[in-house]
Amino acid sequence: PRDVSPRHFLTLFDLSPEELSHLLDRALLLKRSWHSGEVRDTLKNRVLAMIFEKSSTRTRVSFEAGMAQLGGSALFLSPRDTQLGRGEPVEDSARVISSMADAVMIRTFGHETAERFASVSARPVINALTDDFHPCQLLADMQTFREHRGSIQGATVAWIGDGNNMCASYVNAARQFDFHLNIACPEGYEPPAAVLKGQQDRVTILRDPASAAQGAHLLVTDVWASMGQEEEQAERARTFAPYQINPDLMAKAAPDALFMHCLPAHRGEEVSEDMLDHPASVVWDEAENRLHAQKALLECLILNDWGPAA
Ligand code: CP
Ligand code: NVA
Repeated sequence: PRDVSPRHFLTLFDLSPEELSHLLDRALLLKRSWHSGEVRDTLKNRVLAMIFEKSSTRTRVSFEAGMAQLGGSALFLSPRDTQLGRGEPVEDSARVISSMADAVMIRTFGHETAERFASVSARPVINALTDDFHPCQLLADMQTFREHRGSIQGATVAWIGDGNNMCASYVNAARQFDFHLNIACPEGYEPPAAVLKGQQDRVTILRDPASAAQGAHLLVTDVWASMGQEEEQAERARTFAPYQINPDLMAKAAPDALFMHCLPAHRGEEVSEDMLDHPASVVWDEAENRLHAQKALLECLILNDWGPAA
């Protein structure tokens, strides 16, 4: 039977802190199970429709492989070959696609496109990145911190760089996972006021990367020009030049601090050439954890099971 009003995952606020915590437990269990070669078929015969209006490596591979590993399958839909690219209204596409799939994943430009899709979808809709938020990446980042350092509650995270979709999801995560977030960004590149509203006690905006990094337990950054901002690349490279994460900045952080980047990275810009291979870097685990965190998310959403993993 169809869900009357399915749960969606458009931002981290769609799940409660308890649900997020269970989801991470489940993700760590699914990771262990995958590494030990166990076969799991909790999503046998289930189908995930994946709409990509922007490029992707990690997101596509992790969702597609994840569905296959749980016994289901995934459909890759690009605007180039679907009627979405020829102007069929989002709501019409949503009604049709969600009448045939068990969940839908969408990567698009405007966040409102994902919201419009979800508003009429008969099945759960997952935000796989919009211009405003990237909540799936935060699941993987939080899983990675947990597996390397334990709970992130009470920790200080330093975001260095653009107040983009990833940064906005870190602002949301600060509330849902109860940590403090220092954001170091040039003036005019803060996350939107609507995202920061009500978060003054958890989020500090600074201009100086060293002050933001001081004593932090996790340093994070992302590209200076996101998808859709290609023409601003040169200007942003100049504006953001002082905001590179490199071993010198890392040395200001707490002694056991971690470094994360959602990838893809531009070495020599937001990270120095050597930063991804720095001893503090967990970027490869972080990328792999997209797979496990999203398998947990898919099980929770498709089976509507929000408790601890079975
Ligand atoms: N981090 C991330 O979402 O990567 P892709 O753009 O390769 O999916
Ligand atoms: N901020 C980047 C993240 C890519 C995964 C972008 O939106 O392009």
